[in-house]
Amino acid sequence: MDRVAEGTFRRLLDALGIDDTGDTGDVDALPLRMPVHDVRRVDDRCTVVGRIETGRVRVGDRVLFSPSNETASVAGIEARDVPAPLTEASAGRSIGLTLDEQLFVERGETVSHAENPPVETDVFRARLLWLGRAPLRPGRRLTLRLGSAAVPVEVQSIGRGELEGRTSDETRAAVARDGIAEVVLRADAMLALDPYTANPRTGRFVLADGDEIAGGGLIGMEGYPDQRALITGRSSNVTTIDHGVSAAARARRNGHAGGVIWLTGLSGAGKSTLAIAAEDRLFRKGYQVYALDGDNLRHGLNATLGFSPEDRSENIRRVGEVAALFAEAGFIVLTAFISPYRSDRERARAAAERASPRMFHEVHVKAPLAVCEARDPRGLYRRARAGEIADFTGVSAPYEAPEAPEFTVDTGDRPVAHSVQALIDYIERQFALSGGAAPEG
Ligand code: ADX
Repeated sequence: MDRVAEGTFRRLLDALGIDDTGDTGDVDALPLRMPVHDVRRVDDRCTVVGRIETGRVRVGDRVLFSPSNETASVAGIEARDVPAPLTEASAGRSIGLTLDEQLFVERGETVSHAENPPVETDVFRARLLWLGRAPLRPGRRLTLRLGSAAVPVEVQSIGRGELEGRTSDETRAAVARDGIAEVVLRADAMLALDPYTANPRTGRFVLADGDEIAGGGLIGMEGYPDQRALITGRSSNVTTIDHGVSAAARARRNGHAGGVIWLTGLSGAGKSTLAIAAEDRLFRKGYQVYALDGDNLRHGLNATLGFSPEDRSENIRRVGEVAALFAEAGFIVLTAFISPYRSDRERARAAAERASPRMFHEVHVKAPLAVCEARDPRGLYRRARAGEIADFTGVSAPYEAPEAPEFTVDTGDRPVAHSVQALIDYIERQFALSGGAAPEG
């Protein structure tokens, strides 16, 4: 397996014209990375076994396990071929790290230092050499072998379509055997990885189809966020207080349940227009309704955030939580944010559905990039094309279209009024107004 994998990488690097001297260069100087191959537990101690890929580790170091985010200190280092315990070890050595406490870590995790951790993500880009018999197509499921981890993944897209704002049905490319392509892979679980340019040892992976190697690739994260900060809780010693007013009591007074109508789409697709028009019309009908808009919240709650992948994810994390609170308070909240990443939208869904299921309705506000760009209401596409705005969605930053939205509004070739009506009809089907509420105006 390892020899086949090595041969695959060699072919890929040759084809891409990459001189990977970095690989044979000073791997000790890179940050510590050790994939965990085995965990042995004896009494109250725990020893993790693996091979250091890059960097070095010393007794007393504070180490971090990813993706579990557990930390511990190194109490001892042993190597099978060395009789006495070691005080430190570096790249290339297989060791057992004894920790000062019992951790629930397992094979597949990566050991690093806390201050220089790998990226945590469930989606990444790759330059891939495909070796499977049948052509590779979007939707194909395979096993990703990365370090000591083996995780099911799906080919989300092929080519640079998502970067160019095209939806998945517009990117139907296939990769023939021995072909090289840029792909986006989505994993079923959170991964710990490094871009190839940051670490040539841990920035590469193999795709397996059953027991066979079906490809090898180099990892890239351009346009995609490190999700570590989003999933690392920092509050401790906190409890939850129950409300005395029930969701049912709020729904009785309002005449309808609360919920989140999550509009996602390219800039210029019409999200804000739809949200504001639907808010107005539903309010007049007697609904408790409120619209949260990307541009508006970026003046206040999210004024500290820009448009880097990480900032967008944090933007959506906050909006997801705020929308969930509005929904719990009994409101129907319409959100109008590009929200380009699927994982962020899934977290927003989970936040809303913590309180009760089916509270979250993902609505794809769909218009071709060319149409959005022709509308260009604020002249931003023009400025993005001129290189004046970086990371612009659809131009130089990706948009991951929803796979299975609850509802789609096509705004590309229809008058706005038609789209507004379609959205209102959908919302009224989901949140039928009963009794109590008094319509206005
Ligand atoms: S999101 O990607 O984080 O969800 P959000 O919806 O809050 O974006 O904000 C998008 C709005 O910010 C756009 O409608 C546009 O007016 C403005 N904007 C400014 N810079 C960018 C950029 N680089 N990419 C996309 N939109 C941008």
